[in-house]
Amino acid sequence: MTLSAEAFRFVADLVRRESAIVLEQGKEYLVDSRLRSLAQAAGDADVNAYVDRLRRPEGARETAKVVEAMTTNETSWFRDREPFQALSGTIFQELMQRPNHSRTIRIWSAACSSGQEAYTIAMLAAEHVVPLGWRVEIVATDLAQSMVDRTREGRYSQLEVGRGMPAPMLVKYFQREGTGWRVNDQLRSMVRVQTLNLAAPYPPMPVFDVVFLRNVLIYFDAATKKQVLGRVRQVLDPQGYLFLGGAETTLGLDDSWDRTMIGRFTVNRPKGAGAAAPATGTAPLAGLAGLGARRAI
Ligand SMILES: C[S@@+](CC[C@H](N)C(=O)[O-])C[C@H]1O[C@@H](n2cnc3c(N)ncnc32)[C@H](O)[C@@H]1O
Repeated sequence: MTLSAEAFRFVADLVRRESAIVLEQGKEYLVDSRLRSLAQAAGDADVNAYVDRLRRPEGARETAKVVEAMTTNETSWFRDREPFQALSGTIFQELMQRPNHSRTIRIWSAACSSGQEAYTIAMLAAEHVVPLGWRVEIVATDLAQSMVDRTREGRYSQLEVGRGMPAPMLVKYFQREGTGWRVNDQLRSMVRVQTLNLAAPYPPMPVFDVVFLRNVLIYFDAATKKQVLGRVRQVLDPQGYLFLGGAETTLGLDDSWDRTMIGRFTVNRPKGAGAAAPATGTAPLAGLAGLGARRAI
């Protein structure tokens, strides 16, 4: 079966309204394949029939499921490596050298998917910050309730831990659970998880030292990207750091940011924040030879 142009438009409008995710023409196959199981669960013959259901008043019950089905939750541990090298090798040290800091580093993993980003940050904090007597609070948020639930649970399959997790970190911070693994209590206690739509007004939030806004702006149009960058700016410390994904930039969208290189990673800072401290270490993350020794990685 082929999704009708009208059904595609209806779903694209709904998803954009609820999440700001843009589904351009040509993505009909994606809508069709992602909504097939929802159509089946609702007892509809095909996705067109399911979209007809969405148009009826009872369809409102399906909205969140449809939006969630259209999110892309691709993620991995230490994704792209360099951002995490910059965090542990430079930014943590820079923050801990500030004489007036509250000694609690606050980090937001905005669009956390199933939690790998937030727990990667937590592992690095446990290695490099907590042993020095500082606290680290991580807020992990996502639009998709199923992702929020998964992050809160902190349970991962063997396949999932195989995507980027160094063996020494797995042994140190995870417990075996059945055929999979669960993040230990120490890391879970550092991460507060909640649903949050980046494209809607935010609830009260703390001021963050670092915001990870990685691999989510790519799904939005320019106006939404601008709006999200503006909102994030409101909750980021004026001396803070904004991490974007490899295909994302503030350039041409919002000139209230400066870009600074840390190693090979470009980090964004509110204009006037000054240059980041020079990198203190370049040892590769692979193998994490200095695990427990608190050296910069
Ligand atoms: C590709 S994942 C990125 C995960 C992680 N940040 C990383 O870089 O590995 C994108 C995530 O953005 C979330 N997302 C999409 N639209 C969103 C919105 N409007 N508000 C909050 N999260 C959203 C999706 O649910 C998905 O989990």
